[in-house]
Amino acid sequence: MADEQAIGVALDAYLADRTVADALRAWARDHELIVSVPDTPWRRSGGTGAQLVSLDLLRYSNDRMGAYRQSVIVKVCAKGDYSAEPQRHKAAWEANPEFSKKYLVGQPYDSVVLPDGRSMMFQEANFDVGLTCTLGELSVAYQAAGCRRAFSLILQEWNVPLGFQQKTLNVDEYLKLELRHAMSPGRSAYEWVKNAHLLHGDRYFPHPAAGESSRDLPNPIRIASEFFGLKDFQVTYFAGYSHGDLHLDNLVVSRTVAEGPDLDVMQFIDLSGFAEDAPLARDVVTLALSCVFRSLRDGLEGAQREELVNFLVDGVEGSCPGLPIPLRDTLAEVMYVSSLFLQGGELWHAQYLLSLLAHALVYTSYENVGESGRRWFFYLAARAAESFLALSGI
Ligand SMILES: Nc1ncnc2c1ncn2[C@@H]1O[C@H](COP(=O)(O)OP(=O)(O)O)[C@@H](O)[C@H]1O
Ligand SMILES: [Mg+2]
Repeated sequence: MADEQAIGVALDAYLADRTVADALRAWARDHELIVSVPDTPWRRSGGTGAQLVSLDLLRYSNDRMGAYRQSVIVKVCAKGDYSAEPQRHKAAWEANPEFSKKYLVGQPYDSVVLPDGRSMMFQEANFDVGLTCTLGELSVAYQAAGCRRAFSLILQEWNVPLGFQQKTLNVDEYLKLELRHAMSPGRSAYEWVKNAHLLHGDRYFPHPAAGESSRDLPNPIRIASEFFGLKDFQVTYFAGYSHGDLHLDNLVVSRTVAEGPDLDVMQFIDLSGFAEDAPLARDVVTLALSCVFRSLRDGLEGAQREELVNFLVDGVEGSCPGLPIPLRDTLAEVMYVSSLFLQGGELWHAQYLLSLLAHALVYTSYENVGESGRRWFFYLAARAAESFLALSGI
């Protein structure tokens, strides 16, 4: 009993969240378990307001504690849409169990809804969580190889074995699917576009700093308007399983001090955006843009920024000699993936451009790339829109 009390006090201090501590204790009682702080504590917070901690689960046996010990990560998901992550994660797990056992984190117990609307999910910690890190936490030198691995897992191991489909949507519906609610009033991408006076007007003039390419471009948020003749224009695309929020910090790899990272041991985490039949370009584009974002944050000059747009939109090999090598190598991986799909005709290119347009707009919401970075993402979206119009013969 004394042990139990000590564990309880330590747990309160460790979690620093009364609601979570109480819910965990009640949950543990129902499962005849005791929740305890691990010897090596581990905690993280996510960009969505989620809190994650590692915990040990203990079960009494013959009046002695510790006969059963299981390490888990408890993720407390923010309320609202994020609180549904455990269910989306379960759907992802069941989509392709062979893949899931290797590359997703298992949920050993059902999730719990907290009284304040947050949810609490349990994740298996199969290997020492202290010996893991995300691809974003590793040196940029590992970025290209990490992306190659992630793309090949998603396309070749997750999607190909079960066969992906071709689907058709109107351009505006495709963009809505990709933007989700990013361009709804009140959301930060929408507010930025509005404050930059870019909400209306079919044509957009890029910032003169863009140099040579300061030509009249289509306004990417108006691309589906009647002005461009795309009303009722349909796009056929490859659809399948998609992580939905694939970026460098949602890919976990194992790492030891002696041997460095092992990219073969990779897990996809944070599956709240999982979808069964999303455009396959979604994950490719979002992961690529998270690498681009990292480079922009580290600083790219005007000419490099222009090269980067040219590459992302036109994807010509060898067309970006001025870019930092890790970024160039990463973009070459994107091109490799695209080349696999391009064997199927122009379908991939059209969906790639539309996904690029949409997710570049989503990135205008990120304050930490500064005003020039946000403008750059808008410009990227406009260039993708221009290319899409050309590809569609409009
Ligand atoms: N299963 C895990 N193994 C190792 N690290 C993890 C795991 N789950 C989360 N993390 C770490 O915690 C961070 C935030 O978790 P995440 O689930 O991505 O939260 P959010 O939904 O807020 O983005 C991740 O970027 C990663 O650093
Ligand atoms: Mg995350």
